[in-house]
Amino acid sequence: MSTDDLKRAAAKAALAHVEPGMKLGLGTGSTAAIFIELLGEKVAEGLNVKGVPTSESTRELAERHGVPLTTLKETPELDLTIDGADEVDAELNLIKGGGAALLREKIVAYASSRMLVIVDSSKRVETLGAFPLPVEVVPFGKEATVRAIAALAARLGLKGQVTLRRSEDECPVVTDSGHNILDAHFGRIDDPKALAAALCEIPGVVEHGLFLGYADIAIVAGPNGVETIEPASRPAEEASRRIA
Ligand code: A5P
Repeated sequence: MSTDDLKRAAAKAALAHVEPGMKLGLGTGSTAAIFIELLGEKVAEGLNVKGVPTSESTRELAERHGVPLTTLKETPELDLTIDGADEVDAELNLIKGGGAALLREKIVAYASSRMLVIVDSSKRVETLGAFPLPVEVVPFGKEATVRAIAALAARLGLKGQVTLRRSEDECPVVTDSGHNILDAHFGRIDDPKALAAALCEIPGVVEHGLFLGYADIAIVAGPNGVETIEPASRPAEEASRRIA
């Protein structure tokens, strides 16, 4: 099976978690895109759901597939967010933001009672960090923000380049909210909680791609089939970060 087949299998399995009348968060990325396409087919058959897109590209895709949309202004509390991820560990901590949508993805997931992650098995890791950690930053002073991130990370024993993400035309990537993306090549992140807290201390950092305690369930498609994973335990303080 190709990676695309696996992504499709995970996206298809996620449909079973969607119930009539649900208000959904719609993720960004190639796996979420397949889910939106399949959701559109269900809507055409009569399924009544509404979705809040996590990016402009997802909004366009959902419109193209006939998925009714709403906004967090109209619908500030969602039932379920379905999104992909760049890495997933055993506790369902995630790295996200490979598609530069992490800020809206996190806002939408936080507004959801539950978050369902759909991935192919290559995204499963023991420890987060092989995928460079995306960090969304304000363009003003981004060079100073890079230095601040590197200095704070060094205090946590993390080394590695922090690079400005550029598009194919070499221009800095600009997110839907007008920010830039840095990619922190730290490698293994043994204490993601400490890193997340440190990043939040830096004024130019808008948000980071560590989604700790967000995912409630992961659907992982691998060569041997589709597996549904729920975290064994979740500290109460992490659970309480979510709007129930
Ligand atoms: C978007 O910003 C990301 O968080 C995506 O969810 C992530 O990069 C996964 O994308 P794929 O499904 O394309 O691998």
